[in-house]
Amino acid sequence: MFPVERPRRLRRTRAIRQLVAETTLAPSDLVLPLFVAEGRTEPWPIPSLPGHVQHTVDSLVHEVKRAQHAGVGGVILFGVPNQKDEVGSGAYDDNGIAQVALRAVRDAIGDEIVVMADLCLDEYTSHGHCGVLNQNGTVDNDRTIALYAETAVVQARAGAAVVAPSGMMDGQVDAIRQGLDDAGFTDTIIMAYAVKYASALYGPFRDAVGVTIQGGGDRRSYQQDAANRRESWREARADVDEGADLIMVKPALTNLDVLSDLYAQLDVPLCAYHVSGEYAMVCAAAERGWIDRQAVAIEQLTSIRRAGAQFVLTYFATEVAELLSL
Ligand code: PBG
Repeated sequence: MFPVERPRRLRRTRAIRQLVAETTLAPSDLVLPLFVAEGRTEPWPIPSLPGHVQHTVDSLVHEVKRAQHAGVGGVILFGVPNQKDEVGSGAYDDNGIAQVALRAVRDAIGDEIVVMADLCLDEYTSHGHCGVLNQNGTVDNDRTIALYAETAVVQARAGAAVVAPSGMMDGQVDAIRQGLDDAGFTDTIIMAYAVKYASALYGPFRDAVGVTIQGGGDRRSYQQDAANRRESWREARADVDEGADLIMVKPALTNLDVLSDLYAQLDVPLCAYHVSGEYAMVCAAAERGWIDRQAVAIEQLTSIRRAGAQFVLTYFATEVAELLSL
């Protein structure tokens, strides 16, 4: 006989589909990553990240205004310094490029868009690692988290509403929370890159910030192994216990299982980072005419939301926000 279940009834028109949609995608669900380089007089296009540039402070402010106008929920800033050193001093210098940029953005735009600062040392260290090194060349966890705490205070003072530690050191959230609280920044939000895999999808990002790891090294001794799922539960739980306000999973599409697990386990807001390699793959295939760039972007971002992300960090943020408001 005829089937009793007829799910297709609810797919017949766009209006019905919208009515029953479990997941929405709005401009305010998107956070735009932005790069600002010290000493630039003109924006510099990043070849492996089409449509994105290393900004001057002025072009950065302009881009943030454009994002805000499109309804984008937030921006996350990455600084590219002129000079690097062994201990990444530019990261925690009040006059470091990220701090100069944060002040300019907050002065121009205030609290109309959520201003976030990536908190890590890798853009500022001569060896390219996310922390300071021991004699034997490995990253010194405990000296590094003390410097993260200093960096957080400097970023908060410069106007960051959210600091986002991305270095995957143990105890980093605890050290940063204490540092912020001691300096009176009790309202500064910590968005923890809690679940961060050692991924080959960060390639274009490293071009964007001009980071190479010395001696052909990698980050496998501090970022997670793609083989592990339950390890992410421990990472996320530890960060919540240490005081993280927001928990991030990264990269997004290769880790939707983890996102979905955490959605069930935790009651803090979750986000995911649709990273540079995920963006670049869509751009490259679309350039060849093999896929529809905007349709794929919306499908991927919607799926990340469906898996449990409240918001998504994505290089598509302004483009998709503008598309959604048409
Ligand atoms: C580290 C950091 C990285 C990204 C964000 N923060 C790179 C890394 O861990 O090597 C990658 C983001 C992307 O690929 O879009 N500061």
